[in-house]
Amino acid sequence: MGERRKERERFADVGRRILNWAAHSKEQVLNQDSNRNMSSSKKKSRRRFLNTVLGVGVVGWVGGVLYPVLSFLNPPEQPEPNVRSVVATAVDGMSPNSGQIIKFGRKPVILIRLDSGEYRAFSAICTHLDCTVQYRTDFKHIWCACHNGHYDLRGKNIAGPPPRPLMPYDVTIVDDEVVVSAPSAA
Ligand code: FES
Repeated sequence: MGERRKERERFADVGRRILNWAAHSKEQVLNQDSNRNMSSSKKKSRRRFLNTVLGVGVVGWVGGVLYPVLSFLNPPEQPEPNVRSVVATAVDGMSPNSGQIIKFGRKPVILIRLDSGEYRAFSAICTHLDCTVQYRTDFKHIWCACHNGHYDLRGKNIAGPPPRPLMPYDVTIVDDEVVVSAPSAA
């Protein structure tokens, strides 16, 4: 009987030890899991932070590259300068039978000097498809190279496709200077 009891106690002791070991192991596993979860969540939040920083950086970089390109392709509208007259040249600045393009604000104007010495000015924008006209000394009139349009010395369309005359500008001589002014209707 005593032997059996001792054996039962030994078995019980082994069983207790096994239970203790299992409980201890489980606790360790739980601790490790919890540590792993904590470090994994830390890693996740660090990754999220880095992704955010990278995202902001990429968006900033793309914006920095695209903005100047888009600004160049689509410049902001600038109001048309309100130019009423410009000094084109000195009174003897052009020889007879010649012409030149001058800037009138942002518009091109053709100033011609006739054989007689008289100055005349017209819009230099062809009324056909907006090419810039020029003075032809050989024709002695205004000509558009784009589609062979011809205008006489009063700006009237005389040959080729232009459908309308060129818009005339006023020309006056002030203090030995040739002043070109917008016509009152322009
Ligand atoms: S644009 Fe001048 S003739 Fe066509």
